[in-house]
Amino acid sequence: MLTSPGDTPYPVIQAANTLRRAWTAAGVQTAPHTAVILGSGLSRIADDALLSGAVAVPYASIPGMPVTRVKGHHGRFVAGGGQLIGAVLLQGRSHIYEGWSAIEATYSVRLLAELGVRTLIITNAAGGISPIMRPGDLMTITDHLSFVDISVLQQKNSASAWFNREPRVWSQRLLSTAERLTTPLRVHSGCYAMMSGPNYETPAEIRMLRTCGADAVGMSTVPEGIVGRQLGMDVLGISCITNAAAGLSDGPLSHQEVSETAFRVEKEFVDWLHKLLAAVVDTARD
Ligand code: HPA
Repeated sequence: MLTSPGDTPYPVIQAANTLRRAWTAAGVQTAPHTAVILGSGLSRIADDALLSGAVAVPYASIPGMPVTRVKGHHGRFVAGGGQLIGAVLLQGRSHIYEGWSAIEATYSVRLLAELGVRTLIITNAAGGISPIMRPGDLMTITDHLSFVDISVLQQKNSASAWFNREPRVWSQRLLSTAERLTTPLRVHSGCYAMMSGPNYETPAEIRMLRTCGADAVGMSTVPEGIVGRQLGMDVLGISCITNAAAGLSDGPLSHQEVSETAFRVEKEFVDWLHKLLAAVVDTARD
């Protein structure tokens, strides 16, 4: 029963216990310290992990967990196996543009906090706005703009107090860690703009975003980042630039173009993520 606006209206504790039970039954360590949310076309690291003994638990089996309907988003937790010690991968996310509320779309992050996750890595596919961004580049998120007129914090009585204390969502420490990794991909840093979607932007909106200082644009990540930070996690966001944003190249944008670019760089992206996970574990020990 909900007794105050600050209560979480979903069974997060029950969900965490369900996941722990599934992991215990499969012989997987039940207390991950790091989680990676995998965006459109970026989930091959989870497929590889499954081939080397990791275990998948479908979102549909977890109480309260929204089930994603976007093509290419499997909707499952992947953990265990040789390379994923202490990490859990979320293969697919729920978006606000699918009709989920901000609270529902960030349920997974509240669940991760309940499981004890301290480091949250959020990936997404994004359109490049800055002229230096080319399809296939990566961008670590140093700051964001949100053009979605909702706040994931509205349910919390303490929201304004928290935001006055913690205006910074994206971890400087994790950004420095990511900067030191080597990869054949070009890695930039920049400002991510979240639009509500599901339609791509108009060329006029992209001109506005560019004037506002956005380097890339997408339809996710910001709500998850804010909730993760609010719950005390260190948060890193990474965009894979899959296309030039609307009006910056010839021809219409399509989900197919997004998937094709992500597919083209997926091996390098997986290698980079593995290095990141190893480095995160190392720096957590410092
Ligand atoms: N706009 C919004 N979201 C996106 C884009 C884009 O150009 N590319 C991939 N996700």
